[in-house]
Amino acid sequence: MKEISKEITADSQVARIFDWRRGFNTIHLIDLGIKVGLIKALKDAPDSTAQDLAGKLGLHAPYVETWCRTAYGMEILDADEPGRWRLAPFFDVILASPTHPRYLGGYVRLGTEVAADDFQRLVEAFKSGGTKPFQGRGESFAQAIAESTWGLQVITAKKLLPELPELASRLQAGGAVLELGCGTGNLLMQLARAFPAARCVGVDIDVESLHIAREKIQQAQAGSRVQALHGTIASATRPGTFDAVVMVEVLHEIAPHIRLQVTQEGAAALKPGGWMLIVDETYPSTLEEMRKPEFKFPLMTGFEELFWGNVLPTREEQEKLLRDAGLIGPIQRSIIGEGFTVLATRKA
Ligand SMILES: C[S@@+](CC[C@H](N)C(=O)[O-])C[C@H]1O[C@@H](n2cnc3c(N)ncnc32)[C@H](O)[C@@H]1O
Repeated sequence: MKEISKEITADSQVARIFDWRRGFNTIHLIDLGIKVGLIKALKDAPDSTAQDLAGKLGLHAPYVETWCRTAYGMEILDADEPGRWRLAPFFDVILASPTHPRYLGGYVRLGTEVAADDFQRLVEAFKSGGTKPFQGRGESFAQAIAESTWGLQVITAKKLLPELPELASRLQAGGAVLELGCGTGNLLMQLARAFPAARCVGVDIDVESLHIAREKIQQAQAGSRVQALHGTIASATRPGTFDAVVMVEVLHEIAPHIRLQVTQEGAAALKPGGWMLIVDETYPSTLEEMRKPEFKFPLMTGFEELFWGNVLPTREEQEKLLRDAGLIGPIQRSIIGEGFTVLATRKA
C-alpha cells in the first residue's frame, strides 16, 4: 500500500519551526518547574492555585500563574475549574519521582544545562573540530548523566541481565559481574542488592564519577564485594573471571580508536559461557533509517554529543566489533524505550 504523505507547503514548514521552538521552551518550562518545586508541589497537592503554590514555595505569584497557564496550554497540567491546577496523567511519575524507571527529570536537565551550553560552543567547534570530553566535566554533570540513565539501569538490573540464560543462577551462586563505564555506580549498587552473593566490579576512566560511586559503596558498607576502579579492564581486573560484562550507554562513549581494544578486554574478562550485555544507541546506517522513529533518538544523540567527541556506531560496526573481539556466537538484538539497543552475546 502506498504511504499517504501530507502535502508540504511553506505554511506547513513554518508551522514545524514554531513547533520545535515551542518544544525548546516547553523543556525549559518543565526544567524550571522541577527546579523551583512546582511540579513536586502539584504532585503533593493537586488542584492547587498559583497563589497556594507561590505561598508554599516562597515564589512570586504572578510568575507562578503564568507558568501554570503555559503548562496547562502545553498539556503538562490539567484543570477541572479555572485556576486550580494539577499534573496531567503520568507526569507525577515521569517528572516528580526521581527513583522511578520512567523519571525523565535528569534527561530534561541534561538538555537545559549541558546540551544548551554545548550547542553554543559548536559554532566555534565547527571550525576547529574541538571537543570537550565527558571526563573532567565535573560532579554535577556526572550526576545529571546518572539521573538521565536511571531508567535504563533499573531495566538492566531487574530485567535484561536476570533474563539472560543461566546468568542469574551463576550470580546467585557467588559469581561476578563487571560493569564497564560504571559512572556514579547506580547500576553497580542495584546489581549488588539484586545478587547479594555476587562480586560486582565497576571500571571507569572518569575520576569525578568514580568518587560518587565510591561514596555509595562506602555508605552501603559493601566494600568487601563491590568495587569501583579507575583504569582499563586489563589494568584493573584479571582475565576469565567474570560471568557477565555489562555496559549501559558506554559503547558509543568509548573513543573509536580504542573501542576494539576495550571490547577485546571485555571479552577476555569473561569466563566461558559468560555474557556480554550492551545497552546503547545504534546510529542509522541508511537514509531510510535516519527518518525511522526508532533511530531519531540515536540520531539526535550523535548531534548532541558531537562536542563530547562521541561517535555512535552503526549496527554493522557494533556487530563487527563483537566478532573482532572474539565473541562469535549469535548476537541477540532488540530495541527498548525511545530507541535504545540491547545487544547480548555469549562467550563460547
Ligand atoms: C554516558 S556515561 C554512562 C555511565 C553509566 N553507565 C550510566 O548508565 O549512568 C558513559 C561512561 O563511560 C565511561 N567511559 C568512556 N570511555 C571509557 C573507557 N575507555 N573505559 C572505561 N569507561 C569509559 C565514561 O567515563 C562514563 O562514565
